[in-house]
Amino acid sequence: MKLLNNKKILLGICGGIAAYKVLSLIRLLKKDGAEVRVIMTPSAVEFIGKLTAATLADSPVYSELADPDSGQWTNHVELGLWADLFLVAPATASTLSKMASGMSDNLLLTTYLSARCPVFVAPAMDLDMWAHPATQKNLQILRQQNVSVLEPNEGELASGLSGKGRMQEPEEIFSALSGFYSQKQILKGKNVLITLGPTQEALDPVRFISNHSTGKMGAEIARSFLEMGAGVTIVAGPVDKNLLPSEARILHVKSAIDMLDACELNFSQSDVIVLAAAVADYRPAQVSEQKIKKSGEHLSIELVKNPDIAATLGAKKRKDQFVLGFALETENELENAHAKRIRKNLDAIVLNSLNDSGAGFALDTNKITLISADGIAHPFETKSKKDVAHDITRFVVQQIQNL
Ligand code: CTP
Repeated sequence: MKLLNNKKILLGICGGIAAYKVLSLIRLLKKDGAEVRVIMTPSAVEFIGKLTAATLADSPVYSELADPDSGQWTNHVELGLWADLFLVAPATASTLSKMASGMSDNLLLTTYLSARCPVFVAPAMDLDMWAHPATQKNLQILRQQNVSVLEPNEGELASGLSGKGRMQEPEEIFSALSGFYSQKQILKGKNVLITLGPTQEALDPVRFISNHSTGKMGAEIARSFLEMGAGVTIVAGPVDKNLLPSEARILHVKSAIDMLDACELNFSQSDVIVLAAAVADYRPAQVSEQKIKKSGEHLSIELVKNPDIAATLGAKKRKDQFVLGFALETENELENAHAKRIRKNLDAIVLNSLNDSGAGFALDTNKITLISADGIAHPFETKSKKDVAHDITRFVVQQIQNL
């Protein structure tokens, strides 16, 4: 199956000895039916000829922000929007650093800042440059910006030294891009609804009751489902908006009642529902219209129970829908989580134990145990929230195949 057929691939070439290798990558992409456009940085032009790249790509090569003869401007915004996927290969330490810091002093960089599509980089550099904390920090920033890094291989380098820094071979890069598109087929046509973040329960116009949830875990789950080609709707409590994937449909809510309303509106058209929000169990019985004034030594606030979103949706789920909940437990974890799954009529539950170091709010790592409807517990190691999200979504895919 030609997974790249009709895909618009924008290839950014930087100045490195590995530049000559991407010429054969252009051939592989074209053979698979991709439309390829090429941007070269000024130093890439010193390594390979524009004519060769343009001939292989069957399209002009862009390298200047403006044509030096005609003065005509190259529309980087248009190029960025044209692309279905932007690949920078070879990606030099310098370009990675500029991408990470948002610099825009050449066409490749201005296009990167304008692109809305998935971005891949295939770094190539000497082993010490690769290992340098500055380079690693830049890569970390780029990963956080959702750039996929195709880690270089170990081997002989242009310097004559041997180590990590060799750009992946064109065939490997090609299969990474194909893998990305084959991944996109897994949940194509499926809709996923995800709740995430805390809820805020108002006391008066300036005060509320809430919790420390940041929504990070739910956002990673949303990303992972998007990578699998699902349509994703996020019902987000108050969280940092930059955390949420822009390709998802996002509904912002504050209170548990608003969150339930948004979920109910979207429930029937959802195939998978993930309840990752830390919903406040109680809300103030009265919301004062005016700011509550300081008075006596003590103040009691009466709280009333909030609706349980998971249980409400669990009670009316259809056989073809899969509802996944979370359980945050501090004692008798497995037993409590299992009972919670049954009580709320969920298809599976993700157990987070606050007793595990590396698990909890605001951390970048998490340690989970997945409990399926047959009662079997599947424990996982402590991992980054991104990797935990992959474990969860892979598990969901396996489970829905049995529905
Ligand atoms: N949940 C929900 N609505 C609520 C409370 C919880 O949708 N009002 C969902 C959470 O998103 C999570 C699951 O239910 O998926 C379990 O949440 P948790 O706080 O662990 O359980 P509670 O039902 O609140 O039980 P308890 O606090 O007694 O452990």
